[in-house]
Amino acid sequence: MLRRLHPEQPESFAFTDANLAWAKGQISKYPEGRQASAVIPLLWRAQEQEGWVTKPAIEAIADMLGMAYIRVLEVTSFYFMFQMQPVGSVAHIQICGTLSCMICGAEDLIAVCKEKIADKPHVVSADGKFSWEEVECLGACTNAPMAQIGKDYYEDMTVEGFSQLLDDLAAGKVPAPGPMNGRFASEPLSGLTTLKEYDSGKTKYNASAQLATDIGDTVKRIDGTEVPLRTPWIGEDGVVAGRASSAAAPAEPATPKPAVKQAEDAKKAEAPKAEPKAEKAKAKPAKKAKAAPAVAGADDLKQLKGVGPALEKKLHENGVTSFAQIAAWGADDIVDMDDKLSFKGRIERDGWVEQAKTLASGEETEFSKKVADGDVYED
Ligand code: FES
Repeated sequence: MLRRLHPEQPESFAFTDANLAWAKGQISKYPEGRQASAVIPLLWRAQEQEGWVTKPAIEAIADMLGMAYIRVLEVTSFYFMFQMQPVGSVAHIQICGTLSCMICGAEDLIAVCKEKIADKPHVVSADGKFSWEEVECLGACTNAPMAQIGKDYYEDMTVEGFSQLLDDLAAGKVPAPGPMNGRFASEPLSGLTTLKEYDSGKTKYNASAQLATDIGDTVKRIDGTEVPLRTPWIGEDGVVAGRASSAAAPAEPATPKPAVKQAEDAKKAEAPKAEPKAEKAKAKPAKKAKAAPAVAGADDLKQLKGVGPALEKKLHENGVTSFAQIAAWGADDIVDMDDKLSFKGRIERDGWVEQAKTLASGEETEFSKKVADGDVYED
């Protein structure tokens, strides 16, 4: 499979406030000059938040880490755990197709995916809710066949059980992960033969399935509020353990600049001196003014997360100019508009209707505040 940027990309990316605080905490773990080491955790959190790794996310993370965009794209395209195309708004199903699972029925599970989701992997289902792919061994061979769905493993699956699981997920339920045949963990199917006195029954499910159930983050898009931010390596004074001065949560870490950036900086240094700051400020319109709506009297639809200038233009062309219109959309309107925008599942995935309801009532969203502050669209 070719791993490259998907031809259709959202206009922007911004971590939620809680995810941004988490990302800064991760960056602070690394010594000065080594902040690029945080690239995988940050890409992963971007995927947990959005469902897949978008080009704007790659660029935003590169900027945070002082890396060239191509370096972050290289990391993203190297690791198959990063999804480089849109995924289902409810869940992306990863069926293990390696030996144990194959012997125990993985092909039958894949047939269910083909029937209920899409004929080909990495294609979003007609309702926008699911996508699927076959993956290599996920290390749960004892409980074959299995699938990773969101953050968790569903094991000992049957065709009927898996089919029902998809129906439940589509209906908004999140079935408990773990074995689906009544096993507690990976004990023999015929029952325990050793350690019979071991009391594992303190929780309803085994440890990881219990935690997943307790946190409830199995297929949830992670916004950073799920668990409290923990940065035990940062003292109360904001100083990272073992360092002389405060280096906690740097907004823009002082990373050595990549070669491309260094060359650009050298060019800039040779260029005639820039105009004084005050004059420059006068000449440059405020970011906020740039984000103004393109149609007189229209709401600034770019305040909806997932709508950038290009999509706003398309919405205008389809007669959609206000938050109130979007807030009133029902399921048929969403399907219709998905078609017109040629980006199946996007409206539900980004929660346009919920966002529009908030904005139509005069309230702000986390994302609309960032747009209003000029932190999202610059051009
Ligand atoms: S073969 Fe499927 S988890 Fe190992």
